[in-house]
Amino acid sequence: MKGKIIIPGGSGFLGRSLAKWLHNEGYQVIILSRKSRSLDYAENVLWDGETLGDWAKELEGATAIVNLTGRWVNCRYHKRNRDQIMNSRIRSTRIISEALSQCKNPPSVWLNSSTATIYLHRYDKPNDEENGIIASHPDAKDVFSVQVAEAWEKEFEKVDPSLTRKIIMRTSFVYGVEHGGVYETIRKLVKLRFGGKMGDGKQYVSWIHSDDFCRCVQWFIENEKARGVYNICTPNPLPNKEIMRIIRKVMNVSTGFNLSHWMLEVGAFIIRTQTELIIKSRYVTPARLLAEGFSFAHPTFEEAIRDIESRGIIR
Ligand SMILES: NC(=O)c1ccc[n+]([C@@H]2O[C@H](COP(=O)([O-])OP(=O)(O)OC[C@H]3O[C@@H](n4cnc5c(N)ncnc54)[C@H](OP(=O)(O)O)[C@@H]3O)[C@@H](O)[C@H]2O)c1
Repeated sequence: MKGKIIIPGGSGFLGRSLAKWLHNEGYQVIILSRKSRSLDYAENVLWDGETLGDWAKELEGATAIVNLTGRWVNCRYHKRNRDQIMNSRIRSTRIISEALSQCKNPPSVWLNSSTATIYLHRYDKPNDEENGIIASHPDAKDVFSVQVAEAWEKEFEKVDPSLTRKIIMRTSFVYGVEHGGVYETIRKLVKLRFGGKMGDGKQYVSWIHSDDFCRCVQWFIENEKARGVYNICTPNPLPNKEIMRIIRKVMNVSTGFNLSHWMLEVGAFIIRTQTELIIKSRYVTPARLLAEGFSFAHPTFEEAIRDIESRGIIR
């Protein structure tokens, strides 16, 4: 058995992908969750994401913490949801930090989630870790999301780097086979023949296959030199129009009605979400992963979608 990996918030879309992956790679996996459950690939330990408890003992001598906690952002941003989105990320980071500072033998590395949404909505050139611009843009309606991302990273910056190796994961949209991810929603729209371009279709979509997300996390855990901020996405972002064309092609759906801006606004209101998730141009590339020798198993979008479709969504 390799070391013990603690995954706070590991019951969700990314957490299930990652826990199964690390378990298959021979790690002992502990998920921290607010609900009890029994799993064959991980041990589920209760916590509340904001106060110390017995869960904190699990950190002692662990190899890594991969914090994936965060209320789902696919919702209307009214006050109660905004508070939950912000607090779940800040408080979980803070309480893990407190637990870690009490460890005699703290985990060697802590990977904390962030988001590629932190970067400016743009079309001209990609945001990488060195030259990317961190800012919101009125056209993208992303003021709140960028505020959350910045506050989340600031909270993590407070963690004493002498205690553990620290990594910030600015993750793009992850496409995978577990239920609850963005692809499950998109493929439903495509099936209903609403899989045309969204808005003007020119907005970039940065993306990564969930297997590559998991490989990347494992690479961070095992590569002692990795530290600091990383963009977690493939080097091949595509405009929305192209993303939708490829998905229709792989799914063999010939018709795809375009969804104009106003239709997206109405639709987002009806299904209780935000258009920002669709209209923001997330032009982000993984300069550091490439420079440091990480190689992607699924670098091209069409092949990635074919792989997911051949495996099917796990319910
Ligand atoms: N999926 C993506 O494409 C993507 C892209 C960029 C960044 N991210 C970030 O990566 C992280 C994981 O994403 P995901 O897609 O796996 O999300 P997810 O499916 O919503 O899972 C997140 C987990 O966080 C826990 N959680 C939710 N609300 C909470 C609260 N108020 N207090 C404490 N815990 C709470 C839940 O665990 P319990 O209910 O079991 O406690 C949930 O399973 C999130 O922080 C997300 O923002 C995801």
